[in-house]
Amino acid sequence: MDSTTLIRLNLDIKEKPIGKSLRFNAAVEEIKKINGKNNKIVVLSHRGRPDGVENSLSLKSFAPLLSKAIGKKVLFLDNSDLDKAADIIRNSSKEKIFLLENVRFLKGETENNLVLARRLSKLGTEFISDDFATSHRADASLAAITRFIPSKPGNLLKEEVKNLSLAFKKPKSPFVLLIGGAKAKDKVGVIKSLIKRADLVMVGGAAANTFLKSRGMDIKDSLYEPDMLQVARRLLKNKKLAIPTDFIWDDNKILDIGPQTIKLYSFYLKSARFIIWNGPMGMFEKKQFAAGTQAMAKAVFSNRKSSAVIGGGETVSALSLKNQIQHPKPNIFLSTGGGAMLEFLAGEKMAGLEAVMKKNRAK
Ligand code: 3PG
Repeated sequence: MDSTTLIRLNLDIKEKPIGKSLRFNAAVEEIKKINGKNNKIVVLSHRGRPDGVENSLSLKSFAPLLSKAIGKKVLFLDNSDLDKAADIIRNSSKEKIFLLENVRFLKGETENNLVLARRLSKLGTEFISDDFATSHRADASLAAITRFIPSKPGNLLKEEVKNLSLAFKKPKSPFVLLIGGAKAKDKVGVIKSLIKRADLVMVGGAAANTFLKSRGMDIKDSLYEPDMLQVARRLLKNKKLAIPTDFIWDDNKILDIGPQTIKLYSFYLKSARFIIWNGPMGMFEKKQFAAGTQAMAKAVFSNRKSSAVIGGGETVSALSLKNQIQHPKPNIFLSTGGGAMLEFLAGEKMAGLEAVMKKNRAK
C-alpha cells in the first residue's frame, strides 16, 4: 500500500457556522500540514453520540466544507463496508484526501473493540492521533488502533498537552482559575486538583449556584445539584475559592453574574500572570445574559502580561461570537477540549491519550 496517513481529528462541532469553529479550523490546518508529502490521507472522526447509524450525525456534509477550506477535493468514504473502503483507498492515486463516515456508526467503536480497531488500521500505513477533545475516551479509533499500526501523537495533541501541562509546572503567579458552565459536578475535579497550585479560584455560571446554596443563600428556582452541596461546602472552607456576590435574575433564576462580580473577577483576571478558564459565566447564548462571559473574555484578552488557556466547548463558542478565534493571540491558547480538558486538568488517566503516548515512549 502507498504511504497512507490515518489521522483522528475532531469534527464533533455543534456551533454554526461550522467553518468558523475552533475545532474545524484546527483540523483544516493539520490536514494542510500533512498533505502533499506524497501520501494519502484518511481522516477519522465522530459526531455526537449516535446509537448505530443516524443520518443527522453523518459526516458527509463535512467533505465539501473541508474541500473548500483546504483548497483540494476531500472524498467522502462510506464506512459500512471497511474492506471496500480499504480497496478504494488502495486503488486511488497518490495525495488523495478521504473523510471516513462517523466512526461512531461502527459497532465496537466506543467499546474499544480490538477487531474493529484492526480493521480500521488496515485503511492506512501510519496513524496520527490528533483528537485531543476525545482523547479521554477509550474508543477503538483512538486507543485500540495504536496496537495495530505505527502510531504517533499529532501536532494538535502535542500542543494541547504542552499548554494544559503549564498548570502543573509552576506557572507564573498570580495564577487564577476561572470556572463556569452548567454543572459543579463536572468541575469539582479540576478545582480540587488545581486549588493548591492556583492563587485564586473564581466560580461562576450555574456551577456557582450549588456553592451559593451550600452557603445558605436563597437561589430560588435556579439550577443546582443537591448531591454536590456537601462537596461545595467543604471546598468553600478554602479561602482561595471565590463565588459571585451579585446576579442577573430572570424568572426567579440566576442567569448571569452581576456588575459587582464582573468588576471584581475582571480585576483579578487583569492582574493575573497565568489564567485557566473553562465554562461561561451565564446563559451567554441570550444577549441579556452574555455580559458576564463577555467581560471575562475582555479582561483575559486585554491582559498582555499573562498567558492563558481557555477551553470547554461552550466557553470557546462564547468567544467565537466575538470572533476571537479568527484573531488568535500568541499568549492565549484555545483548547479544543471540553470534557477532555477537565479530565486532563483534574489529573485523571485518559485512555486515548495514554495509548498513543505509551507507544511513543516505547520507541
Ligand atoms: C467532545 O465534544 O467533548 C468530544 O467530541 C468528545 O465527545 P463525547 O463526550 O461524546 O465522547
